[in-house]
This record gives sequence, C-alpha cells and structure tokens, in this order.
Amino acid sequence: MTTTRDSFHSRIGFVLAAAGSAIGLGNIWGFPTQAANNGGGAFLFVYLLVTILLALPALYAEIYIGNQAQKNPVSALGDACKDISPRLGRTAGFAGLCGAIMMLSFYTIVAGWMLAHALSAITELLGMVELSTWLATSSIERNIIFTPVFILLGAAIIHQGVNAGIERWSARLMPVLLIMLVGLIVYILQQPGAEKGLAVYLIPDFSQVTNPELVIAAMGQAFFSLSIGVGGMMVYGSYMQKDKDIGKLVMSITALDTAIAFMAGLLIIPALFVAQEAGQQVFQDSQLIGEGQLIFQILPTLFNSMGSVGLFVSFGFFSLLSIAALTSTISSTEVPVAYMVEDKGFTRKKATWLVSAIVLCSSGLLIAFFDVLFGAFIRILTTIMQPLSCLFYFIVVGWLWSRGNKLRDKALQQGRKWLPLWGNYIRFVCPVLLTVVFVNVAILN
Ligand code: PHE
Repeated sequence: MTTTRDSFHSRIGFVLAAAGSAIGLGNIWGFPTQAANNGGGAFLFVYLLVTILLALPALYAEIYIGNQAQKNPVSALGDACKDISPRLGRTAGFAGLCGAIMMLSFYTIVAGWMLAHALSAITELLGMVELSTWLATSSIERNIIFTPVFILLGAAIIHQGVNAGIERWSARLMPVLLIMLVGLIVYILQQPGAEKGLAVYLIPDFSQVTNPELVIAAMGQAFFSLSIGVGGMMVYGSYMQKDKDIGKLVMSITALDTAIAFMAGLLIIPALFVAQEAGQQVFQDSQLIGEGQLIFQILPTLFNSMGSVGLFVSFGFFSLLSIAALTSTISSTEVPVAYMVEDKGFTRKKATWLVSAIVLCSSGLLIAFFDVLFGAFIRILTTIMQPLSCLFYFIVVGWLWSRGNKLRDKALQQGRKWLPLWGNYIRFVCPVLLTVVFVNVAILN
C-alpha cells in the first residue's frame, strides 16, 4: 500500500504543534501549584535540572522513534523491536495508546471546567447572573455538558487531518495563548502584593532542593508537561520528514514549554499574594489551601474583587487555559486515531468519532465515580505509565533497535560529533537515572 501519509508541512508547524501538545494545563495550573507548594524557586531549580537531564532526552527518544519509523506509535515500536520481539514493541505502543485515552478521560473534564469558567465571565458581562453563577459552580450537570463539548472541539480539529487540522490550528492558537499570557502577567504584576509573590517564586530556598519528594514531584511534572510517554510526541515526530535534525527541534519544544511554565508561575504566584493582600486566606502552614481552590476559588474571588475589569481578566485567564488544553487534547487523540487509520483501515473521520466516543465513555465513568477514579487515573498515568514508557523508549533507542545503538551508527555515517556522546547518554545514563527515581516513587507511594 503506497498511500502518502498526511504530514506537517513545515518545521515551524511541527514545533508549534508539539509545543501546543506540551503546553497545557500542566504548565499553567500544575507547575505554579507545585512551585507554590514546594518552596517556590527551589522547585523551579530542580524542575530545570530534571527537565534537562531526563525529560529532554526522553522527548528526543520518543520523537526519534516516530520520525525514523514514519508510522503510528504501535507500529513504530513494533518495527523498532523487530529483531527481538515485535510483539513486545507493539504491546508497549498499545500501552501508550491506553495512557493517551486515560489522559483524555480526566483532561477533558478539567478542560470543560475551564471552558465553563470562561463562559461564566461572558454571561456575567451580559447580565445573565444566574447562568453565570451556575457556570462557575461545580456540578455533575456541568460536567455532563462541558466534557462532551470539549471532546467535540478536539474532534473537530482532528478529523480535518494533520496539516489542515493540527498544524493550522496550532499555528493559530499558540500565538494567541502567548499574547494573553503576557497581557495577564503585565496586569497582575502591577497589583499591590505582587512583588512578594515574585520574591517567593524567584529566590530559591535551597534547603528544599534535596528533598526526595520535591525531586519526584518535579520529575512527574516535567514528564507530564512535555507530554512524554503516551505516544503523542511519537506520532507527531512521524509526521515530520525523516532524518531532520531532531536535536534542535526537541530543544525548541522543551524551551518553549519551560518558558511558558515559568511565565505561568510569574502570573499565578504573584496573583496568590495579590489575593492575600486583598484579605483572602491563601496559605495554611505554608501550603496552598487545596489545589483546586487555587484556580477555581482564590483566583475567581480575586477577579471578582477587581470590578468589571476583573471579568475581562477572568475571561482572558480561562480562555488561555481552554486553548492550552485544546492543543494538548488533540495530540493525545491523534495517537489512537493514527493507529486505527493505519493499522485497522478506518477512515480518518470514522476513527475520530470512534475515539471520541471511547473517550466520552471513559470520562463519563470518571464523572460517575469521581472521588475514586479521578485522582487514581492521574496518579497511575503520571507516576507509573509515563515513566515506564520512557524507560522503554530509552532502551529501544539505546539498545534494541537494529542490534545496538542506532544513534551511534548514524553518527558514524553522518559525522555529527556530538551524536555518539548523546547516544551513550541515552543508552547508559538515562535508564539508570530513571530507574533510581522510579524506585523512589514506588517506595514513597
Ligand atoms: N503536556 C500537557 C500539559 O502540560 C499534558 C499532556 C500529557 C498532553 C500527555 C499530551 C500527553 O498539560
């Protein structure tokens, strides 16, 4: 079969789509919450370290596998392991695919909350106070309406294809996100109390840096933030022309993702102190009072206290989160869609609707058994599935592929001096480092 695959049409299109996948609720909600709870600047410092030492190589390995194979993650990993056990590779690919569905099940629920809050600001501006209050109050009915709405938004982009859907929409939405974020930062930093937040965020408390829980939290955050381990980056890598200089692209994606997380910290942590200055209780024993309360209580109360400007700020903030969530949702959705189209012969449209239906069912399950399942899904994905997938990618690239280290072989062919070194780092250092952290996670949990 020689049908040409859909693909990204430019390097910048690929970088924006991959950055769109990476930049999400993890950056704008997760990162600042973790930083505020784990010593501010100390968390930032450790986060940067684990990102460079482990998450960046993992992202490289994932994109590299997809790019070499030019296939969906299940087939790509099957190919990569063909000398040893294609079945093992396909099983790992399939596990990633299940991880993508798990991610979508909780992510689309939270994204729906963001959308509802953005609409709440608009309806209040229009004088529909009752509707606005309903939209801003958590309820099962709200989940039942907004989770499907969000899944449909993602499906509407995905079914248009890689270039016409993913690439085009990422190129439109990512600049909007950046502009909104900068605008919000400039506004918040001018409010009274903001400078205290800046100090907490930027001056590290180094006594916290060796705390193992902080290191593990930072690693989980880095893997989630870079979307590693569910095949989303692998499938995007497969839509890029083979043998491009992946190193540079991976560095750009990591830099963008880290910069946005850092900027979100510049927005949220000062905002917390602005809220405190305005009389709200924000911390108890130097911990934030409840993670959900940060976004859905502390900040909305702060926005309310700003009068009608606050409504615009609130709309901007929750739209920012909705956009960030949308571009992350589409990368995870693309994993099962690509698999169904390429390996099972579905049309893209059919695959998109089928995957959306599956996600709808599993997020419905989470809504129905929220207290038991919601946290468990997040924990299983981020502390078990993502790190194990990464370990597998390191082993595939470092050891299994073509009996030996493919990166080193290529280096000999192409004469790129740094590649053998990089190959050895992925082959020897990364698996060991990751295993050490993983064992610690298991013990601490
Ligand atoms: N990186 C996204 C975020 O930070 C989440 C994500 C995880 C997206 C895994 C795709 C795959 O919100």
